[in-house]
Amino acid sequence: MLIKPTPDLRESEVTPRELYLRRREFIGAAGAAAAALATGAMAPGEAAAQNPSAQKLANLKKSSFSTTETMNSYRDVTTYNNFYEFGLDKGDPARHAHSLKPRPWSIKVEGECAKPGTYNLEDILKWFPLEERIYRMRCVEAWSMVIPWNGFPLADFVKRFEPTSKAKYIEMRTLLDLRQMPGQTEPALVWPYREGLRMDEALHPLAMLAVGLYGEVLPNQNGAPIRLVVPWKYGFKGIKSIVSVKFVEKEPLNTWQQTRADEYGFYANVNPDVDHPRWTQKTERRIGEFFRRKTLPFNGYGDQVASLYAGMDLRKHY
Ligand code: MTE
Repeated sequence: MLIKPTPDLRESEVTPRELYLRRREFIGAAGAAAAALATGAMAPGEAAAQNPSAQKLANLKKSSFSTTETMNSYRDVTTYNNFYEFGLDKGDPARHAHSLKPRPWSIKVEGECAKPGTYNLEDILKWFPLEERIYRMRCVEAWSMVIPWNGFPLADFVKRFEPTSKAKYIEMRTLLDLRQMPGQTEPALVWPYREGLRMDEALHPLAMLAVGLYGEVLPNQNGAPIRLVVPWKYGFKGIKSIVSVKFVEKEPLNTWQQTRADEYGFYANVNPDVDHPRWTQKTERRIGEFFRRKTLPFNGYGDQVASLYAGMDLRKHY
């Protein structure tokens, strides 16, 4: 059964006004109808309708980090997205991301490490067994989903390049290509999209690089061919379509800080006690559900990650 949730927040409320207005222009230019997307949680026993032509991923190891909460349907996960390189509406990535060519793909590794270089994704994938990890995901816009990701620990990837003692943070960037990512012709964000983690966060076993979901190769709209997943942080930390990883000494600036430093910080840990300047973070709307849920500190992963921030004032370091 599909439940059409009534959004508690309008996009005009969660998006900076100037971006919202540009979003309307973008939609107009693309000729896309601003059709509301029907989303629905997967009813018990209902098979998630996957993409029959998508490549299946074999030998997925189950992870003990997975939640047992009901997963959102494949449809929810792949049609309600944020990927501003393809437009600003939640339905734009599914409509427009076909222009992205995720193979062949390589990642440039640089900065403070013993093994910099440009590595083909095909080779990277030979290094690590793939796992299935079902994570709760919480967007800064106060909606959430439960997603079965397929990938490997970010820590294993990081260690492979032997970061030096000067590597205190990692910075990641998305592809910059106006033809493949037409939204980059609009000044909605500072391109390319970039994100960062402190080294101990990057080495935390919950942080992962995803190359698939629901047992299939990652759809373009979800950040093909490889994207970051950090379940205790707001979704914007999960940078998509990564082409570069740099080990650096100083805290890097991320895209949302660059865009609105007064509203978005570096840490972006899910924190019900620190409201966004324009809306509450105390509750969230699980996509497909009617009633709002209480938001949990660190998105419910506090037992595993709170010690990373011992002694830090998380109101200041939001
Ligand atoms: N990565 C890039 N390159 N561009 C983006 O616009 N949006 C972020 C994040 N990664 C974004 C991005 C935000 S705001 C969210 S909530 C998540 O991707 C959404 O991931 P999903 O669409 O797979 O749920």
